[in-house]
Amino acid sequence: MLCVKDLSHSFEGREVLHSISFEVGTSEILAIMGSSGGGKTTLLKCISGLLKPTKGDVEIEGISVVSDPERARAKLGLVFQYAALFDYLNVSENVLFGIRRKKHLSAKQAKEIVSQRLNEVGLAGKENLMPNELSGGMRKRVGLARALAMEPHVLLYDEPTSGLDPVTAYSIDQLIVETRSRTQATSVVVSHDVSSVFRVADRIAFLHKGQLLFLGTPEEFRDDLSPQIKELVEKAKCEDLSLRIGI
Ligand SMILES: Nc1ncnc2c1ncn2[C@@H]1O[C@H](COP(=O)(O)OP(=O)(O)OP(=O)(O)O)[C@@H](O)[C@H]1O
Ligand SMILES: [Mg+2]
Repeated sequence: MLCVKDLSHSFEGREVLHSISFEVGTSEILAIMGSSGGGKTTLLKCISGLLKPTKGDVEIEGISVVSDPERARAKLGLVFQYAALFDYLNVSENVLFGIRRKKHLSAKQAKEIVSQRLNEVGLAGKENLMPNELSGGMRKRVGLARALAMEPHVLLYDEPTSGLDPVTAYSIDQLIVETRSRTQATSVVVSHDVSSVFRVADRIAFLHKGQLLFLGTPEEFRDDLSPQIKELVEKAKCEDLSLRIGI
């Protein structure tokens, strides 16, 4: 369970997030969408403790990210936009980095965890590949395996399908949903991709100029009348149609 409480953030005196409040229930997937510059990345950084909000708080299972960041962050897994893999480490070492804080593990136990996580993201047998030998989709899978290494209760995804072709994007969407079913993790997915959001999200939050303009189900989102949302929904319909007729 994740709780964003009356959160505001300013950069050099300019407020870019204005009193945002919402909750994400256990094992729910909330997608955060919004116009460019709307504040999505800033919000994700505040949730993950990378930025300290100017006002308000974020609680992860009742633990404050602002006043107890170490404990709160131990419950979090962050999947970065460009996977953020270490290019000089192989797949297995990149995932191993995710469990660096579990110091009591033996080498054998750590290796078992890495194999298990790679298996879960569909990369069994790819342990020794280097990041430059991976496709974009595989890199995202390694990023997820690393985020899953510590068995987080809350998973944050930053643009998980950006830069991927539609078929690979679809497989990553499926992986997000499967991961939720298997781990029961509470998930927040920041995305520009409306088709992808409709496939994964239980609810959608829409940020516009730092305000929470909309929070509701995908069906409610589809029927919303505000121009910024209508424009996005229309665009997604066109993309779906062009995919179906192959243009
Ligand atoms: N480090 C920073 N210093 C100053 N201003 C910043 C900083 N980071 C973001 N901003 C400003 O905060 C606002 C929100 O930015 P943010 O990156 O959160 O938007 P976004 O919704 O993620 O946009 P995009 O869809 O383009 O990624 C923007 O006006 C941006 O210029
Ligand atoms: Mg952003």
